[in-house]
Amino acid sequence: MSEATITHSGHADSTVTKGKSAGVVFDMSEGPADPASYDVFAPFYDAFTAGSDYDAWAGYVLALADEYGLAGRKLLDLACGTGNSFVPFLRAGFEVTGCDASGAMLAEAARKAPAARLVEADVRELPTLDRFHLVTCFDDSLNYLSEERDLASAFGSIAANLHREGLAMFDLNTLLAYRTTFATDSVSAHGDVIFAWRGASRADAAPGCRADASIEVFAPRGRGLYERVTSVHAQRHFPRERVLDALRRAGLACLGVHGVLADGGLVPDADELRHLKVLYVARLAEGGVDE
Ligand SMILES: C[S@@+](CC[C@H](N)C(=O)[O-])C[C@H]1O[C@@H](n2cnc3c(N)ncnc32)[C@H](O)[C@@H]1O
Repeated sequence: MSEATITHSGHADSTVTKGKSAGVVFDMSEGPADPASYDVFAPFYDAFTAGSDYDAWAGYVLALADEYGLAGRKLLDLACGTGNSFVPFLRAGFEVTGCDASGAMLAEAARKAPAARLVEADVRELPTLDRFHLVTCFDDSLNYLSEERDLASAFGSIAANLHREGLAMFDLNTLLAYRTTFATDSVSAHGDVIFAWRGASRADAAPGCRADASIEVFAPRGRGLYERVTSVHAQRHFPRERVLDALRRAGLACLGVHGVLADGGLVPDADELRHLKVLYVARLAEGGVDE
């Protein structure tokens, strides 16, 4: 396996090597990792999402992208995490760039997919890396943005990286997700790693609500001992009209909003109270930015 190399945006000349792919080492000299960052959750992310069928999802997304006239094979996957969301596209022959704010998530992606170009950057302030035919952002990553202006900035990053005929496709959690998944507790296991999900939202959460969930990981460390790792996932709901407004302000035109079914299948009409996620499709607007 090749060495994991991750470029930091903003320091285009300094390619930062985070560590050997066989065992990435992180500098903990600044104290314990922030539980609100994905860095603490990165080693467990793939086990936590082992039940997700990323291949099927990519198949549904690609079929829809073709319907909307996908014009080429250059993909930018924003908030790509450990690479699961872009790996099926790599296999399908796409030239892939992945971007994420978490160096630890990207280190996992680099080990998994040395062929991808990886950039450590915040989705709100991504410079133009190229002009991509498809810009994706999946698995409710944009719900981690806490303000509408952050969402508009993220859409600005998308616009700055879209090919003139390119498509942007991103999903968001619905109100149903914040009234159910984020409002309940559950326990799951993958192998001998145990995950306890605690949703702090409410069954009557209102449109635009903020919602936290924490995930406690219990990972065996030998001799009957378990390491406990806590990550906090602070999200917010973005109602459709706010999303459409933020898209407009970033110079993007919405082409469609689709409902996401439990198996990842997509339906033409999205319903905030029937689907757990919705998928937006957008492209550059004719006149550009609409102030
Ligand atoms: C649920 S994971 C999704 C990862 C991947 N897209 C997938 O489908 O498996 C959310 C990702 O969003 C990233 N993220 C959250 N806020 C971000 C931001 N402001 N800029 C860039 N990445 C961000 C996290 O680091 C994490 O990797």
